Amino acid sequence: MKLAMIGAGYVGLTTGACLADLGHRVVIFDIAKDRVARLRRAELPIFEPGLDGLIGRMLAAGRLAFTDCIHEAVQEADAAFIAVGTPSRPDGGIDLSQVDAAARLVAPALKPGALVVIKSTVVVGTADRVRKIVSEQRGRFDVFVASNPEFLREGSAISDFMKPDRIVLGFDHQAAGQILDEIYAPLIGAVPVCRTTTADAELTKHTANAFLAMKIGFANNVADLCEAVGGDVNAVMEAVGLDSRIGRAFLSAGPGFGGSCFPKDTRAFVHTGRSKSAPQHLIETVVTANAERSARLAQRIISQAGLTSGDTVAILGVAFKANTDDVRESPSLEIARRLLEAGMQLQVHDPKAAANALHVLGQGVAWPADPMDAMAGAHAAVLATEWDVYRQLDLRLAAGAMKGRHFFDFRNLLDANRVNDAGLIYHSIGRTTSRPEFAAICQAAE
Ligand code: NAD
Ligand code: UDX
Repeated sequence: MKLAMIGAGYVGLTTGACLADLGHRVVIFDIAKDRVARLRRAELPIFEPGLDGLIGRMLAAGRLAFTDCIHEAVQEADAAFIAVGTPSRPDGGIDLSQVDAAARLVAPALKPGALVVIKSTVVVGTADRVRKIVSEQRGRFDVFVASNPEFLREGSAISDFMKPDRIVLGFDHQAAGQILDEIYAPLIGAVPVCRTTTADAELTKHTANAFLAMKIGFANNVADLCEAVGGDVNAVMEAVGLDSRIGRAFLSAGPGFGGSCFPKDTRAFVHTGRSKSAPQHLIETVVTANAERSARLAQRIISQAGLTSGDTVAILGVAFKANTDDVRESPSLEIARRLLEAGMQLQVHDPKAAANALHVLGQGVAWPADPMDAMAGAHAAVLATEWDVYRQLDLRLAAGAMKGRHFFDFRNLLDANRVNDAGLIYHSIGRTTSRPEFAAICQAAE
């Protein structure tokens, strides 16, 4: 089939390239002309493992193209996916202006009988809104609108798209469902497919993200309790998660959830609930606790390490999680910002996300290319993103080069004994360091 993808960001690029890999001919359009120009030179504007290779193969196969001309993208398309940004508004609701603009752009260029597929994460009712925009622009109702939310995670986006836990297809006309079935035909049969209304599909996406964020928020609360009473959150969550009714995934305690989805999607869920008189009290608490967590952790660094204004802190990792260059709503950056406010000097390292974080933290922050240089001379070090490279740190060398001794592992990435043996004082999230060796082993069944 011939497909258009509107938006060349993390989702548009990955889903566009993957749909081409499934056998379709895909043209990706973006209003940012410089982005399109770079993509045409096969320069990726984002870091996503494996995506450069996939895009290169699809370009070479002639199944993928980039354009800044909307007609070129859409005029022959059987379906046009909208994968533009849906950022938060100050009141927590979703700013749909990019979706509206994309709908207005594609409407006049679509052929009759084509399908507009909303891939962006949107509030319930958006498909109706897009249907209205498109029909008004065309002066007739001769194209369809569907909702097909995306569940990929940055860092594992390609395999998440190709082997999803399920595909959700939301449509209000059979014809729209048939086009969606044809698009996803190579995956149907291999993965569960949920066919439902556009409203249910929109609700599914926000509900899934709200639930996952709630799991993380709960693990973070339990971590605080473990710190207070001498437990180990990893051991507790491992044992709790082995209950198949609960599941182990998304129970890792850390500095709080960040990224371009969970924070904004939970706020949107709360906003929709309030505005429809169906308050989402659980998620309201999750949102508030997560927002407060960075401030608490920044304060914890200052008090436990005994820092005073002018001291230097090494920050290891600014991406909101490992294997991405995305720093949107990164808890690490929020902690760093609060340390700067408290008068600290920062030496910051990230293997992929430094360029995206420079403008967020501004002047006066050192950005060494080597994590060991970030730790040299620091009064305290904070491991804030779980990059593999930080597992390999030469901690003895780091301890010798640091001015202070305190090492905060906010991802529970390192072995406490290894850090302490190197001469540093280990602080983690929800883990007591002095424990008998037999503790925290859940043995697999024979
Ligand atoms: P992004 O910011 O990386 O990319 C958005 C792109 O859309 C940008 O390149 C921008 O230039 C382009 N754009 C904006 N307005 C446009 C217009 N009118 N016409 C054409 N292009 C336009 O965003 P993203 O992270 O890819 O997210 C896109 C959507 O997918 C959001 O709704 C997000 O919530 C959702 N989502 C994101 C992820 C993720 O992991 N990033 C996962 C699932 C769903
Ligand atoms: C998320 C959703 O998982 C995905 O389905 C949706 O499509 C987009 O939003 P993403 O933001 O890429 O994906 O990352 P994810 O792996 O979900 O992590 C989100 C945040 O939660 C990160 O800050 C991560 O560090 C944190 N997290 C995740 C935890 O703190 N603990 C966990 O156990 C899992």
